[in-house]
Amino acid sequence: MRQTRLDEFLELEEHNKELEKKIQEEVAKNRAKDKLMFQQAKLASMGEMLGNISHQWRQPLMEMSSIFLPIEAKINMDIPLDNKEILDSIEKLNDITKYMSNTIDDFKNFFAKEKEKISFEILEQINSTVNIISSSLKINDIKLDIIIQKNTIMTGYKNEYSQVLINIINNAKDVLVDRKISNPKIKITITENRDDIITKIEDNAGGIKITPIEKVFDPFFTYEKVNGSGIGLFMSKLIIENNMNGKLLVSNNKNGAIFTIIIPKA
Ligand SMILES: Nc1ncnc2c1ncn2[C@@H]1O[C@H](COP(=O)(O)OP(=O)(O)OP(=O)(O)O)[C@@H](O)[C@H]1O
Ligand SMILES: [Mg+2]
Repeated sequence: MRQTRLDEFLELEEHNKELEKKIQEEVAKNRAKDKLMFQQAKLASMGEMLGNISHQWRQPLMEMSSIFLPIEAKINMDIPLDNKEILDSIEKLNDITKYMSNTIDDFKNFFAKEKEKISFEILEQINSTVNIISSSLKINDIKLDIIIQKNTIMTGYKNEYSQVLINIINNAKDVLVDRKISNPKIKITITENRDDIITKIEDNAGGIKITPIEKVFDPFFTYEKVNGSGIGLFMSKLIIENNMNGKLLVSNNKNGAIFTIIIPKA
């Protein structure tokens, strides 16, 4: 009888040890799994970041490859060059490389809470943005009108604001070219009221043929485009609404699409 009790006790003790070992093993396994999941999440967000950077770099890279073409052609044909033309191209190149470098920082900081907002002159920012896309507009004979009521100071992230402008202008350019619109035009109007600064980008490409029209902001939504990834407007809305407390709206008028960016002044 006594013997059996001792046996039982020993058996139980053995059992307990085994259990403890098992628990430790499972805990270790869980930790490894957590670590793996964390790494995978990190990889996924890095992948997303790279996707965004490459999306925003495609346009300036194209632009860069064409900046010096007219100068090269003139040299080849022994046509005299003036310094102004060369300096203009250099300035454009500087704007583009600055933008590309800022884009990396922007995406690295994208989810950071404590980003510092800065004040910037809207006219200056629009000018350097236009420098980044002007060649491809020129090549396609697209007229760009910029109407600024007053050279307003905006507070926010200036490069991210440029990224949004570039995405919207690029989309307009794509549609104007695809639909072979005659007298293609893009008009940017900046106005302000008491509370907000309003940027309107209009084109005459015939409008957005998607209902509901807000679908254009869905991630990976692309329509009638061969190489579209559907990132551009999704990212733009995120920038304006999550990072700048603003609104990005879309509508059509009789000529084409209108994108409206509303940024609060304070
Ligand atoms: N100005 C416009 N006129 C008509 N349709 C437009 C206009 N802007 C955007 N769209 C439509 O909205 C869709 C989504 O645009 P979005 O920029 O998000 O993606 P994408 O241009 O297709 O691809 P990506 O920008 O990632 O290369 C476009 O595919 C196009 O069909
Ligand atoms: Mg796009």
